[in-house]
Amino acid sequence: MKRKILVAGLGLIGGSLALAMKKSPENHILGFDLQKETLQIALEEQIIDESYTNFEEAVKQAKIVILAAPISETIKLMKKMDTIELNHDIILSDVSSVKGSILQAANEMINNRITFIGGHPMAGSHKAGIQAAKGHLFENAIYVLTPTTSCSNGKIEVLKEVLKETKSNFLILNPEEHDEMTSVISHFPHLIASSLVHQAKKWEQMHQYLPELAAGGFRDITRIASSNPKMWQDIFQHNGEQMSRLLQDWINEMVTLKEFLDKNNKEEMIVYLDQAKKYRDGLGEKTTRGALPSFYDVYVDVKDQPGAIASVVQLLADEEISIRNIRILEIRDSINGALRLSVTNQKDQQRAYNVLKNNNYDVTIEA
Ligand SMILES: NC(=O)c1ccc[n+]([C@@H]2O[C@H](COP(=O)([O-])OP(=O)(O)OC[C@H]3O[C@@H](n4cnc5c(N)ncnc54)[C@H](O)[C@@H]3O)[C@@H](O)[C@H]2O)c1
Repeated sequence: MKRKILVAGLGLIGGSLALAMKKSPENHILGFDLQKETLQIALEEQIIDESYTNFEEAVKQAKIVILAAPISETIKLMKKMDTIELNHDIILSDVSSVKGSILQAANEMINNRITFIGGHPMAGSHKAGIQAAKGHLFENAIYVLTPTTSCSNGKIEVLKEVLKETKSNFLILNPEEHDEMTSVISHFPHLIASSLVHQAKKWEQMHQYLPELAAGGFRDITRIASSNPKMWQDIFQHNGEQMSRLLQDWINEMVTLKEFLDKNNKEEMIVYLDQAKKYRDGLGEKTTRGALPSFYDVYVDVKDQPGAIASVVQLLADEEISIRNIRILEIRDSINGALRLSVTNQKDQQRAYNVLKNNNYDVTIEA
């Protein structure tokens, strides 16, 4: 018999998870969402097998429930689930970007039919809604699991099996570790990206050509500011204490930087920038020994003409080098090359370099 899995909240993340899990013939996907139109699309596009407009009815049918609504709504759904009378056991998970408040809600649940295992698939997009869902969204991504202390290893294995088709790398963390790390590498950078955009907007009043100059570095560093504002407000609210601590840390750091500038302290400034560069350059190497996948980049200068990128990609395909990421860099002034190709290991990086070089491309592996 097939496993009945309910996904509640069929937006970008819920829809993508449903699509991935549906690839397994053992999974039968039920869907619930507050928006009727979303449910209709999910059925029409065969993202789910069955749709439900009543949460309780859907829960009663499922052995596994994955909540993929915004964080505050997820907590409400957990409270609702706690009150449902069940005659079978359920593994309950979620996808929320913050885990502390979710685990707190899980620990308050008294329904002994329910075992909670928190989840956070760490991939996304600046888009929202079911139309943006993709079955391959989580391939090679980290999928953090934060089980409750009473959860058995057996149940964690069941959940991993259900999620196998996401092709992600599972990593078990406690909620505090998760929230501290994600606030540093994801949530806080988002806040800074938004503040940089505000700064540019303010200065545009004085310099009308500023948007024209805002290419390359500025676009790279502020890309995440284009994401769903409601979702990010929800994340900031649920990780508020940590965000406030980091912001204070950042303000102190900016005061130090201001002092370097005001006192024209060249040596200190070079040391500061050099330490940042070394740490940033080494980030990929550090992750090779851990659970995080690392990418190796190759930069290649391509002409601005039709088919230029296809030719580069074809050369790598002929050598059976798998490209994990491809990016057109919008300026050519800081590095030698305008196309960045990411491969998964150093050997492929060198092979890609060689094949492109042999075909007379201007190529480098140093950013
Ligand atoms: N977007 C990302 O990059 C990303 C990455 C990882 C995790 N997450 C987490 O995933 C969750 C969903 O984010 P998303 O990007 O898919 O948002 P989304 O806006 O694309 O989708 C949310 C869906 O939930 C539905 N919904 C809202 N309240 C509901 C309720 N009470 N019951 C059932 N459905 C409800 C909405 O109708 C919508 O279809 C959030 O908790 C977020 O923290 C997001």
